[in-house]
Amino acid sequence: MSKKEEPKQPGKYGVDLGERGIYDTRNKLNELTGKEWVYFTNSVWITGYSPTARENVGLKYRKIHPSPKPPALLKEIIEFFTKSGGKVLDPFAGVGGTLLGAALAGGGREAVGVELEQKYIDAYRKVCEKENIQEMTMLRDDARNLLAHPEVSDTVFDLVVADPPYSDMMAKERTGQRKKLYKDSSPMPYTDQDCDLGNMALEDFYEALRDIMGKCFTRLKPKGYMVIFCKDFQPQPGAPNLLHADIVRELGEIPGLVYRGMRIWHDQAMSLYPFGYPYSFVMNQIHQYILIFRKEV
Ligand SMILES: C[S@@+](CC[C@H](N)C(=O)[O-])C[C@H]1O[C@@H](n2cnc3c(N)ncnc32)[C@H](O)[C@@H]1O
Repeated sequence: MSKKEEPKQPGKYGVDLGERGIYDTRNKLNELTGKEWVYFTNSVWITGYSPTARENVGLKYRKIHPSPKPPALLKEIIEFFTKSGGKVLDPFAGVGGTLLGAALAGGGREAVGVELEQKYIDAYRKVCEKENIQEMTMLRDDARNLLAHPEVSDTVFDLVVADPPYSDMMAKERTGQRKKLYKDSSPMPYTDQDCDLGNMALEDFYEALRDIMGKCFTRLKPKGYMVIFCKDFQPQPGAPNLLHADIVRELGEIPGLVYRGMRIWHDQAMSLYPFGYPYSFVMNQIHQYILIFRKEV
């Protein structure tokens, strides 16, 4: 924020937090100052955490997973969309990027994750143990059953974060690239189970995603946010594969859930590969969409 935009005096509702800027006591969403808030709203987000940095805590255990998210990225998301004591739900928890992010955010925030695959849950727990990080609730189940768990059905969540697998397109594409990224990771997208959304045909995938996100929606507080990671796929003749736009359309069918915008995350740790070279253009997609929805009831 420029000096011009930042109020110099705290004013009636402001609390001066020094270098951090001015906190507005009317802020119902988070504990950020004005300048921290505005910084987060930048539509492009660039990260390049080194594999050994604290921000990437426990990567040596988490890299058995094909696409673990940096806990520091989730920490920032959680700090923007919750206050201290906030509760976060992740229906596709993997090796716990969101749960670790909640622990790093601190302030008594808590997270509940649901994950199909035991080995990913074990890796998450190992990170907590080895790195002395608060362990959150991780449930092993198909996320379509998440309301059967009292940890979910008895809680009102401030934020839902979802990083779903994207239908069997994922299984068909880029497996070679992913193997190169994390040589210890599983060769299949995530699991070999039929209820893994990564193994479903597109229409079944959309239905399962709407079902799961609709169930999460019932546990989200009014005006609470839902944040969904998504990557497009390579355009094909007759199929532009703008998956992020399709996800916005599909989740728009959940009454009361409204799309509010996106951030594009550029992960500088991604390598470039010579797909298509030297014959045709094939994109190296090194960004992901972070789609942001709100419960408008
Ligand atoms: C993109 S990964 C999530 C990675 C996670 N954000 C992290 O940082 O580790 C998607 C995860 O969803 C899990 N999954 C797929 N289908 C599921 C289902 N029906 N219920 C619960 N988890 C599922 C996969 O096993 C995979 O670990």
